[in-house]
Amino acid sequence: METTEANERPKILGGCMKTRNVQALAADHNMLMADILERYIRPEMAVDDVLVENGSEEIPVIDMSRLMDEVSWEEEASKLKFACENWGFFQLVNHGVPEKVIEELKEDIMGFHDLPLEKREEVAQLPGDLEGYGQAFIASEEQKLDWADMLYLFTQPPHFRNYKHWPSQPPSFRDSLENYSNATQKVAHCILGFMATILGIKHETISEIHESQSVRINYYPPCANGHDKIIGLSPHSDGCGLTLLLQVNPVSGLQIRRNGKWLPIMPLPGALIVNIGDAVEILTNGRYKSIEHRAVINAKEERISIAALHAPGFEKTVGPLAEIVGEGTPLFKSVTMLEYAKLFFSQKQLYGKKMVELLKLNP
Ligand code: OGA
Ligand code: NI
Repeated sequence: METTEANERPKILGGCMKTRNVQALAADHNMLMADILERYIRPEMAVDDVLVENGSEEIPVIDMSRLMDEVSWEEEASKLKFACENWGFFQLVNHGVPEKVIEELKEDIMGFHDLPLEKREEVAQLPGDLEGYGQAFIASEEQKLDWADMLYLFTQPPHFRNYKHWPSQPPSFRDSLENYSNATQKVAHCILGFMATILGIKHETISEIHESQSVRINYYPPCANGHDKIIGLSPHSDGCGLTLLLQVNPVSGLQIRRNGKWLPIMPLPGALIVNIGDAVEILTNGRYKSIEHRAVINAKEERISIAALHAPGFEKTVGPLAEIVGEGTPLFKSVTMLEYAKLFFSQKQLYGKKMVELLKLNP
C-alpha cells in the first residue's frame, strides 16, 4: 500500500485544479466582473429549483439524551428508525458535545477566516492532494464552480493527521479541532450503534468499521450579484457513512432533496445536523438511504459550516453486510474502503448519489 511519508495514511486523494480563492474574490469589487462571475453562474438554477414551502415540512429531531436513557431509549430509537428510513437527515439535540468545545472551535474557524489570504494559504492544498485549504472536484477550465473555499483535514485516527495542513493561527485552532473531532467521533459511533440495533443486527457491526473521520470546513462568502444563480456547494450525497454538520454562524443555506424539491434546513440552536452517506446506504443494502443536498449562498452574509465525515477504515470492506442481506440479494458490489476512496476522488465532479450509482449491481 502506498503511504505518505508524514503518516501511515494511503495516498489516495487525487487533488484538483487550482482556482481563485473565493473569499478573496468576493471581497474585491473590481474582480466581480461578468466574465469572472460567469464561471460561477448557473442559468439552469432558477428553472429546476422548486423549494418546499417554508414550514410545511421539517426534518425529524432526535434527542440523544433520550437514546442514552434506559427508560426512554426504545421510544426514541423508533423515531430514529423513522428518520433513517424516511428522511436520511435529522437534527440531533442533547448530543453531549460540550458547548465549550463547540464555541471554541467556532471562534477559531472564524479567526482563521479573518486572517489575510497569505496566512490562510500557509495551509493551502499541495498539487496532487486534497487535504488543506482550497477546493475539491475541479477538473476543467470550463466547469462551473462552487462559490466556496474549503479546508479539508484528516482528523481520525490520530496518526492520520497531517499537521502541516492544520492552521497554526489562531494558536488554539489545533486543540479546538482535536477536541471537537474526539467528541463528534463518539457521537457518530453512538448513532451508528443505534442505527444497527434498530436494523436488528449487533450494535457494533457498523460503528466499529467506521474508524476514520475527516472534516470539511466550508466557507461561503456572500455574493450580491446573481446570488440566486450561484451555488455554494453543488448537489451531492456524502460518500462517507455518516456526517455530522455544525453550522458555525447563524446563516442558513443547507437544502436537502425531498420528493423532487429542495427543502431548506434551519438548524435548531445547539443541534448537529446528521445525515446518512453513501457508504451506509451500501452497507445496509439500501435499507437506509443517502440523501442529496446542496448549499446555497446569501447576498449579504457569509456562511460557515463544518462537516465531520465518518467513514470505514481503508482496509475495511464497503459492501452489503451479510447480516442484513441474509437470504436476499446484495444490491451493491463490495470493495475495500481504499478502492472506494480512490473511485470517489477520481470522479471529476460532485454530483448526485455518486458512490451508490457507481457500485450498484445491475444498474
Ligand atoms: C458537505 C455539505 C453543507 C453545508 O460539506 O458535505 O454538504 O451546509 N455541507 O455546508
Ligand atoms: Ni454534504
